[in-house]
Amino acid sequence: MKYNKKSVEDIDVGCKKVIVRCDFNVPQDENGNITDDKRIVAALDTIKYLLGRRAAVILCSHLGRPKGEFKMKYSLEPVAKRLTELLGVNVKMADDVIGESAKKLAAGLEPGECMLLQNVRFHKEEEKNDPAFAKELASMAEIFVNDAFGTAHRAHASTAGIADYLPAVCGFLIQKEISIMGKALDDPKRPFVAILGGAKVSDKIGVINNLIEKCDTIIIGGGMAYTFMKAQGKKIGTSLCEEDKLDLANELVKKAADKGVKLLLPVDTVCADRFAADAEPVTFTAGEIPDNMMGLDIGAKTVELFSDAVKGAGTVIWNGPMGVFEFDAFAVGTKAVAKAIAESGAVSIIGGGDSAAAVEKLGYADKMTHISTGGGASLEFLEGLELPGIACLQDK
Ligand code: 3PG
Repeated sequence: MKYNKKSVEDIDVGCKKVIVRCDFNVPQDENGNITDDKRIVAALDTIKYLLGRRAAVILCSHLGRPKGEFKMKYSLEPVAKRLTELLGVNVKMADDVIGESAKKLAAGLEPGECMLLQNVRFHKEEEKNDPAFAKELASMAEIFVNDAFGTAHRAHASTAGIADYLPAVCGFLIQKEISIMGKALDDPKRPFVAILGGAKVSDKIGVINNLIEKCDTIIIGGGMAYTFMKAQGKKIGTSLCEEDKLDLANELVKKAADKGVKLLLPVDTVCADRFAADAEPVTFTAGEIPDNMMGLDIGAKTVELFSDAVKGAGTVIWNGPMGVFEFDAFAVGTKAVAKAIAESGAVSIIGGGDSAAAVEKLGYADKMTHISTGGGASLEFLEGLELPGIACLQDK
């Protein structure tokens, strides 16, 4: 999907009231402390740009899945505090979303000031993309800026519906995400290698299908590799398997072969007799896993095979871990792949979610060209699907 959307630089924001949809859906500990503020930091460029042009900035976001009801644990108040620290500007917190508190704060907001609405998902109308709710949100501002890449795959009132009522453009984060990932898909530096992992084939069918059209090598690891192995008649013990996807797995292998795309599967696998952090790891040749064992990571020979494929790549896209990396004993494959990508010198793009978390945890984040702030959104982008939160914005 190619986009050529207007950004904040293509519209006069000077001294205007601007409502900005961000993705402040950040993880918190049990005391409400933000444990990873990357999504907040990623929104700063746009906010600073707008404040620098004396816009009055009304920020909004969702946090978690409160299902249309106010729940204290999903309050955006901790985000307002963190934003205030990062911006050095007081970010005023509204008590509600479209109620009296929000509207009063918005009406009195002066040029160069910034406020944050409460969690838009405290209203069930948000996820229903209710036009009346979208209109209420829009009524507080003169321009809509969407910078919530992580939520761009949702057609909700604050991500898409609102664009029916205001001039709508993207912020710098969305611009960056779609330009880097778009270039990789449309005009990649070759060889172009895609590494896909994670538990389920069903989550990645669209991505595999789309990437087979574009890349030179596809590497399949993680839980979904066992469905491919079983489809080839191999023994996978009690490993994860989607029985209803066996034919599809074979079709994908055939499609890759027809297109001349190299498709690599694990050649050995680290197994255990149970799914537990303290289970004893034992390596077997792929396809020879005993009946009582399950595959939890790729083995050393596979690490070598995958790392060799990454060496000399021009572009690498990685989405999904190679094993159960939450358990140290089964994180070796994921670590090794992260290291190989970091050392490859290729344009390296990490899809959000688990692979982004793995790269951060392992200390390779600053070695990657781009780590997407979107989990589901980056997957849908890589599938070539239209993202409603971007499609609704004005074309250049
Ligand atoms: C995410 O974390 O992927 C986004 O913030 C979207 O959240 P959602 O899956 O609850 O819509």
